[in-house]
Amino acid sequence: MACSDGPTVGGGGSGGSSATGGSDEAVDSTAAGMDSTGAGDSETGGDAPPQSCIDPAGPWSQGYSIPRQEPLPGDPVIGLETLLTEDYVSCGIPWELFPIAQPLLGTFADGPSLGWREGKNALVPVGWNVLELQDGSELVAPNCFNCHSAEFNGELVLGLGRHDADFTSDLYSLMQLVPPLPAFTDAGEAFNKFIQRYAVAGPASIMLTTGTNPAIEFAFILLSHRDPYTLEWLDEPIQELPDDMMIPSDPPPWWHARKKASQFANGMSRGDHRGTMILASSLCTDTVAEAAVILDYFVDVVAYLESIEPPQYPYPIDAELATAGAEVFECHCEGCHGSYDANDEHEFYPNMLIPLDLIGTDPVFAAYGAGEFNYLEEWFESSFFGTVTELGVTEPFVGYVAPPLDSVWASAPYFHNASVPTLDLVLDSNARPTYWKRVDFDSTNYDWDALGWPYEELDHGQDQAGPLEPRNLIYDTTKPGHGNGGHDFGDVLTPQERAAVLEYLKTI
Ligand code: HEC
Ligand code: HEC
Repeated sequence: MACSDGPTVGGGGSGGSSATGGSDEAVDSTAAGMDSTGAGDSETGGDAPPQSCIDPAGPWSQGYSIPRQEPLPGDPVIGLETLLTEDYVSCGIPWELFPIAQPLLGTFADGPSLGWREGKNALVPVGWNVLELQDGSELVAPNCFNCHSAEFNGELVLGLGRHDADFTSDLYSLMQLVPPLPAFTDAGEAFNKFIQRYAVAGPASIMLTTGTNPAIEFAFILLSHRDPYTLEWLDEPIQELPDDMMIPSDPPPWWHARKKASQFANGMSRGDHRGTMILASSLCTDTVAEAAVILDYFVDVVAYLESIEPPQYPYPIDAELATAGAEVFECHCEGCHGSYDANDEHEFYPNMLIPLDLIGTDPVFAAYGAGEFNYLEEWFESSFFGTVTELGVTEPFVGYVAPPLDSVWASAPYFHNASVPTLDLVLDSNARPTYWKRVDFDSTNYDWDALGWPYEELDHGQDQAGPLEPRNLIYDTTKPGHGNGGHDFGDVLTPQERAAVLEYLKTI
């Protein structure tokens, strides 16, 4: 069992707290000269006792285990109710206009509705809340499920990151096609605000590829238009952002929340995460008083997130192959991703931040946050949100967190930028396609062998797309922010070992 005592491996002790690190240098403060293929040196000897399996000098030894804070005392049932009824996003589209806006806004305003929601909420997609405003007018406002629920195998899964949303057009221009309300009402006013905010955030956050999400860019843009002390909206940004900013992201499944000490791919949100979570409402929240109310009731939202159970793999599993896979996993993966034996008291998740140079996946997100956009950290720390949540973009170095892998088969595509369509390819970096497109966006069309979305490999990228070929369906990994390299820890495995690990991943 010594093998499973892994939390000490590269554990929290190494926190050489590199003080406030407000410099570009921090990007380079990663472990020097580590050849990650060294991970393959450990033997996967069949009957060897597990003790010898995790190599203490494996790549995980360069990680930093982020400490986890005690959970907040919230109520998960109230949390879900809150997400589906409250006005934490307080601007949106008047009820009367919503049916007109829906077809114009595409995947932003489509999606299944939940019959068990009360009143008019049962009539709108799961990602929207119907709010009654003070003068009795009604507003339809986006909620967190707009990006944090998705269909898988034909079923809507709350908390699964949306993998089929199309953020490749300018929502602002599309909203302008919605006719203005004739009469002046609270809902009309909230609509004007919605449009005003999208005028700023929309054009600047257009994604290149369907299935990638602009949330990180959105946060950068919105914060640059707010006074950190009062949260007042500023028409002129306090920080100019580069025109070519491109940070495609992918919402991770919420069933990770119960294990994670940090949030976001780069592990930047530490401790109590409510401060970064309610950034999503920063679209319309213009005063500290409003933000404080939301913060209070988000105690329950956090409890809801932490209550979500990962789904069970729906088909038969080859137990023998999975057992063989568990051994391979233990030697090659556990040091970073943790151990998943529910019957084993040694089950652990190390919350391991891995230096950028070592993980080698696309650097843009982590490097932006730490480098030229580091003003965000200062903004955040001096703001109301920063009194609640600590932002550690460079703490103790810049990198990405090895996420929990519970039911990871359900959350394709993979990596923080959604650049890899199947789990099989996560484990074989040389086989990843440079240009690929999903065969369709039908969630029942899933590749149960490779574990991911069926895709077609292309011989050209977006710039070579034919005149009639939709560019936005091509995932072009040569574009900034879209790189699919790195994480080559599976490359040393034999095809049999890889198949065994995939089988094992179905069991956790
Ligand atoms: C526009 C789409 C969008 C909306 C709306 C949105 N999110 Fe997210 N969310 C994302 C994306 C994308 C990420 C992943 C960012 C990254 O790469 O780290 C994310 C990350 C998160 C995470 C961190 C998960 C983890 O494991 O690191 C939490 C928690 C979260 N969101 C909660 C919320 C809540 C609560 C709301 C509503 C108040 C919300 N989100 C609204 C897109 C969205
Ligand atoms: C040195 C630490 C480390 C090792 C070893 C490691 N991983 Fe990872 N893994 C990471 C990090 C960090 C990420 C996040 C990369 C990103 O999104 O840019 C990741 C991402 C993944 C993902 C994608 C998760 C998602 O939801 O997108 C899978 C699947 C995965 N790893 C499986 C494995 C398996 C299986 C092994 C063993 C063969 C392994 N990893 C070995 C650190 C590691």
